[in-house]
Amino acid sequence: MSEEVSSDVLFETVNNAGIITLNRPEALNSLNYNILSMLWSILHEWENTKNLVIIKGVGRSFCAGGDLKHVSETNKSNSSPEFTFAMLEYNVNNYIKHYKIPYIALLNGIAMGGGLGVSVHGRYRIATEHSVLAMPETKVGLIPDVGGSYFLPRLPYNIGVYLALTSNTLVGADSAIVGLATHYVPSTKLTELESDLSRCTSEYEIEHVLDRYHIKPTNFSLDPHVKTIDYCFAGKTVEDIISRLRRVDNDWSNKTISIIQERCPLAIKLTLETMHRGRTYTDLWQCLIMEYRIIWRLSLNQNFHEGVRALLIDKDKKPQWNPKTLAEVNEHEMLSFFEPLQMNRDLRPINYSKI
Ligand SMILES: *[C@@H]1O[C@H](CO)[C@@H](O)[C@H](O)[C@H]1NC(C)=O
Ligand SMILES: *[C@@H]1O[C@H](CO)[C@@H](O)[C@H](O)[C@H]1NC(C)=O
Repeated sequence: MSEEVSSDVLFETVNNAGIITLNRPEALNSLNYNILSMLWSILHEWENTKNLVIIKGVGRSFCAGGDLKHVSETNKSNSSPEFTFAMLEYNVNNYIKHYKIPYIALLNGIAMGGGLGVSVHGRYRIATEHSVLAMPETKVGLIPDVGGSYFLPRLPYNIGVYLALTSNTLVGADSAIVGLATHYVPSTKLTELESDLSRCTSEYEIEHVLDRYHIKPTNFSLDPHVKTIDYCFAGKTVEDIISRLRRVDNDWSNKTISIIQERCPLAIKLTLETMHRGRTYTDLWQCLIMEYRIIWRLSLNQNFHEGVRALLIDKDKKPQWNPKTLAEVNEHEMLSFFEPLQMNRDLRPINYSKI
Protein backbone atom coordinates (compact mmCIF):
# COMPACT_ATOMS: atom_id res chain seq x y z
CA MET A 1 0.00 0.00 0.00
CA SER A 2 1.32 3.46 -0.76
CA GLU A 3 -0.04 7.00 -0.60
CA GLU A 4 -3.39 5.52 0.37
CA VAL A 5 -6.22 8.04 0.44
CA SER A 6 -9.58 7.55 2.06
CA SER A 7 -12.06 10.14 3.16
CA ASP A 8 -11.70 9.38 6.88
CA VAL A 9 -7.92 9.62 7.03
CA LEU A 10 -5.42 11.11 4.58
CA PHE A 11 -1.85 9.95 3.98
CA GLU A 12 0.75 11.97 2.14
CA THR A 13 4.48 12.23 1.81
CA VAL A 14 6.14 15.61 2.32
CA ASN A 15 9.92 15.55 1.93
CA ASN A 16 11.15 12.89 4.39
CA ALA A 17 7.96 12.70 6.40
CA GLY A 18 4.84 10.60 6.22
CA ILE A 19 1.91 12.80 7.20
CA ILE A 20 -1.32 11.38 8.61
CA THR A 21 -4.38 13.62 8.74
CA LEU A 22 -7.46 12.45 10.61
CA ASN A 23 -10.30 13.65 8.46
CA ARG A 24 -13.75 13.23 10.01
CA PRO A 25 -14.47 16.83 11.01
CA GLU A 26 -18.19 16.08 11.43
CA ALA A 27 -17.27 13.60 14.20
CA LEU A 28 -14.38 15.64 15.69
CA ASN A 29 -12.04 13.24 13.87
CA SER A 30 -13.05 10.36 16.14
CA LEU A 31 -11.61 6.97 15.32
CA ASN A 32 -13.49 4.19 13.58
CA TYR A 33 -12.40 0.72 12.58
CA ASN A 34 -11.54 1.81 9.06
CA ILE A 35 -9.19 4.56 10.27
CA LEU A 36 -7.47 2.22 12.72
CA SER A 37 -6.84 -0.49 10.15
CA MET A 38 -5.43 2.04 7.68
CA LEU A 39 -3.21 3.49 10.42
CA TRP A 40 -2.02 0.01 11.30
CA SER A 41 -0.93 -0.62 7.71
CA ILE A 42 0.63 2.73 6.94
CA LEU A 43 2.60 2.79 10.20
CA HIS A 44 4.18 -0.54 9.31
CA GLU A 45 5.01 0.63 5.82
CA TRP A 46 6.40 4.02 6.81
CA GLU A 47 8.55 2.67 9.62
CA ASN A 48 10.89 1.34 6.93
CA THR A 49 10.55 4.04 4.30
CA LYS A 50 10.32 7.44 6.07
CA ASN A 51 12.46 9.42 8.49
CA LEU A 52 9.53 10.50 10.62
CA VAL A 53 5.74 10.43 10.90
CA ILE A 54 3.53 13.40 11.74
CA ILE A 55 -0.10 12.93 12.78
CA LYS A 56 -2.67 15.73 12.96
CA GLY A 57 -6.40 16.37 12.58
CA VAL A 58 -8.34 18.58 10.20
CA GLY A 59 -10.21 21.58 11.56
CA ARG A 60 -10.38 22.36 15.24
CA SER A 61 -9.88 18.86 16.61
CA PHE A 62 -7.04 16.44 16.77
CA CYS A 63 -9.23 13.48 17.67
CA ALA A 64 -12.15 13.17 20.10
CA GLY A 65 -11.67 9.43 20.76
CA GLY A 66 -13.37 6.25 19.67
CA ASP A 67 -16.85 6.06 18.24
CA LEU A 68 -18.65 5.13 21.49
CA LYS A 69 -22.16 5.51 20.19
CA HIS A 70 -21.36 2.91 17.59
CA VAL A 71 -19.78 0.53 20.14
CA SER A 72 -22.80 0.90 22.45
CA GLU A 73 -25.27 0.16 19.65
CA THR A 74 -23.29 -2.86 18.49
CA ASN A 75 -22.94 -4.31 21.97
CA LYS A 76 -26.59 -3.82 22.90
CA SER A 77 -27.64 -5.98 19.99
CA ASN A 78 -24.96 -8.61 20.54
CA SER A 79 -24.30 -10.44 23.79
CA SER A 80 -20.83 -11.66 22.82
CA PRO A 81 -19.06 -8.99 20.79
CA GLU A 82 -15.81 -9.81 19.06
CA PHE A 83 -14.43 -6.52 20.23
CA THR A 84 -12.30 -6.09 17.19
CA PHE A 85 -12.30 -2.30 17.57
CA ALA A 86 -10.47 -2.22 20.92
CA MET A 87 -8.27 -5.17 19.94
CA LEU A 88 -7.03 -3.22 16.93
CA GLU A 89 -6.92 0.11 18.76
CA TYR A 90 -4.74 -1.18 21.60
CA ASN A 91 -2.41 -2.87 19.12
CA VAL A 92 -2.02 0.49 17.35
CA ASN A 93 -1.37 2.24 20.69
CA ASN A 94 1.33 -0.27 21.57
CA TYR A 95 2.86 -0.08 18.10
CA ILE A 96 3.19 3.70 18.41
CA LYS A 97 4.89 3.29 21.80
CA HIS A 98 7.60 1.12 20.24
CA TYR A 99 7.77 2.91 16.89
CA LYS A 100 11.30 2.91 15.53
CA ILE A 101 11.23 6.33 13.84
CA PRO A 102 10.11 9.61 15.44
CA TYR A 103 6.33 9.92 15.72
CA ILE A 104 5.10 13.46 16.19
CA ALA A 105 1.50 14.39 17.09
CA LEU A 106 0.22 17.93 16.56
CA LEU A 107 -2.43 18.31 19.28
CA ASN A 108 -4.03 21.48 17.98
CA GLY A 109 -7.55 21.11 19.40
CA ILE A 110 -9.54 18.40 21.16
CA ALA A 111 -7.49 15.29 21.96
CA MET A 112 -9.43 12.91 24.14
CA GLY A 113 -9.59 9.21 24.96
CA GLY A 114 -8.60 7.29 21.83
CA GLY A 115 -7.15 10.57 20.51
CA LEU A 116 -4.56 10.45 23.28
CA GLY A 117 -4.05 6.76 22.52
CA VAL A 118 -2.75 7.64 19.04
CA SER A 119 -0.58 10.51 20.33
CA VAL A 120 0.77 10.29 23.90
CA HIS A 121 2.64 7.05 23.29
CA GLY A 122 4.56 8.68 20.45
CA ARG A 123 7.95 10.26 21.03
CA TYR A 124 6.86 13.91 20.54
CA ARG A 125 3.52 15.63 21.23
CA ILE A 126 3.06 19.29 20.37
CA ALA A 127 0.48 21.31 22.29
CA THR A 128 -0.87 24.68 21.18
CA GLU A 129 -3.11 27.26 22.83
CA HIS A 130 -6.06 25.31 21.33
CA SER A 131 -5.18 21.98 22.93
CA VAL A 132 -7.95 20.45 25.05
CA LEU A 133 -6.82 17.14 26.48
CA ALA A 134 -8.78 14.68 28.59
CA MET A 135 -9.41 11.07 29.43
CA PRO A 136 -13.18 11.49 29.96
CA GLU A 137 -14.20 7.81 30.18
CA THR A 138 -15.63 7.91 33.70
CA LYS A 139 -18.33 10.22 32.32
CA VAL A 140 -19.74 7.33 30.29
CA GLY A 141 -19.16 4.53 32.78
CA LEU A 142 -15.82 3.35 31.39
CA ILE A 143 -12.22 3.49 32.62
CA PRO A 144 -9.40 5.45 30.93
CA ASP A 145 -8.10 2.92 28.40
CA VAL A 146 -5.74 3.11 25.37
CA GLY A 147 -2.92 2.98 27.92
CA GLY A 148 -4.42 5.44 30.43
CA SER A 149 -3.40 3.13 33.25
CA TYR A 150 0.17 3.42 31.96
CA PHE A 151 0.61 7.12 31.27
CA LEU A 152 -1.73 8.73 33.84
CA PRO A 153 -0.24 7.30 37.05
CA ARG A 154 3.20 8.32 35.71
CA LEU A 155 2.35 12.03 35.57
CA PRO A 156 3.82 14.11 38.41
CA TYR A 157 1.95 15.08 41.61
CA ASN A 158 -0.84 12.51 41.09
CA ILE A 159 -2.27 14.81 38.42
CA GLY A 160 -3.00 11.79 36.24
CA VAL A 161 -5.07 10.15 38.97
CA TYR A 162 -6.95 13.42 39.38
CA LEU A 163 -7.57 13.62 35.61
CA ALA A 164 -8.67 9.97 35.50
CA LEU A 165 -11.23 10.21 38.29
CA THR A 166 -12.69 13.60 37.39
CA SER A 167 -12.49 13.32 33.56
CA ASN A 168 -11.43 17.00 33.70
CA THR A 169 -9.61 18.63 30.79
CA LEU A 170 -6.17 20.17 30.54
CA VAL A 171 -6.07 23.18 28.26
CA GLY A 172 -3.27 24.76 26.24
CA ALA A 173 0.20 24.86 27.75
CA ASP A 174 -0.97 23.00 30.86
CA SER A 175 -0.66 19.75 28.93
CA ALA A 176 3.02 20.47 28.23
CA ILE A 177 3.65 21.33 31.86
CA VAL A 178 2.35 17.99 33.15
CA GLY A 179 4.13 16.11 30.35
CA LEU A 180 1.24 14.84 28.23
CA ALA A 181 2.74 17.10 25.56
CA THR A 182 6.51 17.38 25.11
CA HIS A 183 6.49 20.84 23.50
CA TYR A 184 4.34 23.93 23.30
CA VAL A 185 4.12 25.86 20.02
CA PRO A 186 1.64 28.64 19.13
CA SER A 187 -0.84 27.37 16.51
CA THR A 188 0.14 30.09 14.01
CA LYS A 189 3.58 28.46 13.76
CA LEU A 190 2.41 24.91 13.06
CA THR A 191 2.55 25.05 9.25
CA GLU A 192 6.09 26.32 9.35
CA LEU A 193 7.05 23.78 12.01
CA GLU A 194 5.61 20.93 9.98
CA SER A 195 7.52 21.99 6.91
CA ASP A 196 10.81 22.27 8.84
CA LEU A 197 10.24 18.90 10.50
CA SER A 198 9.52 17.23 7.18
CA ARG A 199 13.06 18.06 5.99
CA CYS A 200 14.74 16.43 8.97
CA THR A 201 16.78 13.31 8.43
CA SER A 202 17.67 12.46 12.01
CA GLU A 203 16.29 12.58 15.50
CA TYR A 204 18.99 15.10 16.36
CA GLU A 205 17.67 17.50 13.71
CA ILE A 206 14.09 16.95 14.83
CA GLU A 207 14.93 17.86 18.42
CA HIS A 208 16.77 20.91 17.22
CA VAL A 209 13.75 22.09 15.19
CA LEU A 210 11.33 21.39 18.03
CA ASP A 211 13.48 23.27 20.51
CA ARG A 212 13.58 26.25 18.16
CA TYR A 213 9.77 26.49 18.05
CA HIS A 214 9.09 25.51 21.64
CA ILE A 215 7.95 28.23 24.03
CA LYS A 216 8.56 27.29 27.61
CA PRO A 217 5.17 27.48 29.33
CA THR A 218 5.21 29.35 32.59
CA ASN A 219 1.59 29.68 33.56
CA PHE A 220 0.08 26.51 35.01
CA SER A 221 -3.64 26.84 35.75
CA LEU A 222 -3.50 24.06 38.36
CA ASP A 223 -0.59 25.68 40.13
CA PRO A 224 -2.64 26.80 43.17
CA HIS A 225 -3.92 23.22 43.58
CA VAL A 226 -0.89 21.06 42.84
CA LYS A 227 -0.08 20.38 46.49
CA THR A 228 -3.70 19.55 47.21
CA ILE A 229 -3.88 17.20 44.24
CA ASP A 230 -0.63 15.53 45.18
CA TYR A 231 -1.81 14.90 48.72
CA CYS A 232 -5.49 14.08 48.15
CA PHE A 233 -5.11 11.81 45.12
CA ALA A 234 -2.53 9.71 46.92
CA GLY A 235 -5.47 8.32 48.90
CA LYS A 236 -5.67 4.53 48.84
CA THR A 237 -9.41 4.41 48.14
CA VAL A 238 -11.87 6.74 46.48
CA GLU A 239 -13.48 7.35 49.89
CA ASP A 240 -10.05 8.21 51.25
CA ILE A 241 -9.48 10.71 48.41
CA ILE A 242 -12.85 12.33 49.04
CA SER A 243 -12.27 12.63 52.77
CA ARG A 244 -8.87 14.24 52.12
CA LEU A 245 -10.53 16.71 49.74
CA ARG A 246 -13.21 17.34 52.37
CA ARG A 247 -10.53 18.27 54.90
CA VAL A 248 -8.99 20.78 52.46
CA ASP A 249 -12.38 22.51 52.47
CA ASN A 250 -12.18 25.23 49.83
CA ASP A 251 -14.21 26.00 46.71
CA TRP A 252 -11.92 23.99 44.48
CA SER A 253 -11.91 20.87 46.67
CA ASN A 254 -15.69 21.01 47.09
CA LYS A 255 -16.15 21.32 43.35
CA THR A 256 -13.78 18.41 42.77
CA ILE A 257 -15.74 16.23 45.21
CA SER A 258 -19.01 16.98 43.45
CA ILE A 259 -17.47 16.17 40.07
CA ILE A 260 -16.24 12.78 41.32
CA GLN A 261 -19.67 12.09 42.77
CA GLU A 262 -21.35 12.78 39.43
CA ARG A 263 -19.25 10.13 37.70
CA CYS A 264 -20.16 6.44 37.47
CA PRO A 265 -19.36 4.97 40.92
CA LEU A 266 -18.39 1.54 39.57
CA ALA A 267 -16.16 3.12 36.93
CA ILE A 268 -14.56 5.44 39.48
CA LYS A 269 -13.59 2.54 41.73
CA LEU A 270 -12.29 0.49 38.81
CA THR A 271 -10.35 3.50 37.54
CA LEU A 272 -8.52 4.08 40.80
CA GLU A 273 -7.61 0.39 40.98
CA THR A 274 -6.20 0.51 37.41
CA MET A 275 -4.12 3.56 38.37
CA HIS A 276 -2.63 1.69 41.32
CA ARG A 277 -1.93 -1.49 39.36
CA GLY A 278 -0.80 0.34 36.21
CA ARG A 279 1.77 2.31 38.16
CA THR A 280 3.52 -0.94 39.12
CA TYR A 281 3.42 -2.50 35.63
CA THR A 282 6.61 -1.96 33.71
CA ASP A 283 5.24 -1.98 30.22
CA LEU A 284 2.35 -0.56 28.30
CA TRP A 285 1.20 -3.90 26.93
CA GLN A 286 0.62 -5.25 30.45
CA CYS A 287 -1.57 -2.21 31.17
CA LEU A 288 -3.47 -2.69 27.92
CA ILE A 289 -4.22 -6.32 28.77
CA MET A 290 -5.70 -5.21 32.10
CA GLU A 291 -7.70 -2.38 30.50
CA TYR A 292 -8.99 -4.68 27.79
CA ARG A 293 -10.50 -7.09 30.32
CA ILE A 294 -12.27 -4.28 32.14
CA ILE A 295 -13.44 -2.46 29.03
CA TRP A 296 -14.69 -5.71 27.56
CA ARG A 297 -16.85 -6.29 30.63
CA LEU A 298 -17.89 -2.67 31.05
CA SER A 299 -18.96 -2.40 27.44
CA LEU A 300 -21.64 -4.99 28.23
CA ASN A 301 -22.58 -3.25 31.47
CA GLN A 302 -25.72 -1.12 31.63
CA ASN A 303 -23.73 1.85 33.00
CA PHE A 304 -21.95 2.25 29.67
CA HIS A 305 -25.18 2.32 27.67
CA GLU A 306 -26.68 4.71 30.20
CA GLY A 307 -23.62 6.98 30.02
CA VAL A 308 -23.71 7.04 26.22
CA ARG A 309 -27.45 7.75 26.33
CA ALA A 310 -27.13 10.62 28.81
CA LEU A 311 -24.05 12.19 27.25
CA LEU A 312 -24.17 11.46 23.54
CA ILE A 313 -27.73 10.49 22.57
CA ASP A 314 -30.37 12.23 24.73
CA LYS A 315 -27.75 14.71 26.01
CA ASP A 316 -29.65 15.29 29.26
CA LYS A 317 -26.32 14.81 31.10
CA LYS A 318 -28.19 13.05 33.91
CA PRO A 319 -27.07 9.44 33.86
CA GLN A 320 -28.75 7.08 36.33
CA TRP A 321 -25.84 4.98 37.52
CA ASN A 322 -26.25 1.55 39.05
CA PRO A 323 -25.06 1.26 41.76
CA LYS A 324 -25.82 4.89 42.51
CA THR A 325 -23.22 5.54 45.18
CA LEU A 326 -19.60 4.61 45.87
CA ALA A 327 -20.65 2.92 49.10
CA GLU A 328 -22.91 0.53 47.18
CA VAL A 329 -20.16 -0.74 44.87
CA ASN A 330 -19.37 -4.31 45.85
CA GLU A 331 -15.60 -4.64 46.25
CA HIS A 332 -15.52 -8.30 45.29
CA GLU A 333 -17.58 -7.70 42.17
CA MET A 334 -15.40 -4.72 41.24
CA LEU A 335 -12.23 -6.80 41.52
CA SER A 336 -13.74 -9.53 39.33
CA PHE A 337 -13.48 -7.12 36.37
CA PHE A 338 -9.70 -7.68 36.46
CA GLU A 339 -9.93 -11.45 35.93
CA PRO A 340 -8.72 -12.93 32.63
CA LEU A 341 -11.43 -13.22 29.99
CA GLN A 342 -12.88 -16.62 29.24
CA MET A 343 -12.59 -18.51 25.98
CA ASN A 344 -9.31 -17.04 24.75
CA ARG A 345 -10.75 -13.54 24.54
CA ASP A 346 -7.86 -11.65 26.16
CA LEU A 347 -6.01 -8.97 24.24
CA ARG A 348 -3.48 -10.47 21.86
CA PRO A 349 -0.95 -9.10 19.39
CA ILE A 350 -2.35 -8.75 15.89
CA ASN A 351 -0.15 -9.96 13.09
CA TYR A 352 0.43 -7.16 10.56
CA SER A 353 -0.25 -9.33 7.55
CA LYS A 354 -3.63 -10.46 8.95
CA ILE A 355 -5.34 -7.08 8.45
C1 LIG B 1 -1.56 33.39 33.68
O1 LIG B 1 -2.85 32.89 33.99
C2 LIG B 1 -3.66 33.84 34.64
C3 LIG B 1 -4.94 33.12 35.06
O2 LIG B 1 -5.43 32.29 34.06
C4 LIG B 1 -3.90 35.01 33.71
O3 LIG B 1 -4.71 35.97 34.35
C5 LIG B 1 -2.56 35.65 33.33
O4 LIG B 1 -2.75 36.67 32.41
C6 LIG B 1 -1.62 34.58 32.75
N1 LIG B 1 -0.30 35.13 32.55
C7 LIG B 1 0.40 34.92 31.43
C8 LIG B 1 1.77 35.49 31.42
O5 LIG B 1 -0.05 34.30 30.49
C1 LIG C 1 -17.62 22.64 51.31
O1 LIG C 1 -18.69 21.73 51.44
C2 LIG C 1 -19.03 21.47 52.80
C3 LIG C 1 -20.04 20.32 52.84
O2 LIG C 1 -21.05 20.51 51.88
C4 LIG C 1 -19.53 22.75 53.44
O3 LIG C 1 -19.87 22.53 54.81
C5 LIG C 1 -18.41 23.80 53.35
O4 LIG C 1 -18.85 25.04 53.87
C6 LIG C 1 -17.96 23.98 51.93
N1 LIG C 1 -16.78 24.82 51.93
C7 LIG C 1 -16.64 25.86 51.12
C8 LIG C 1 -15.35 26.64 51.24
O5 LIG C 1 -17.47 26.17 50.28
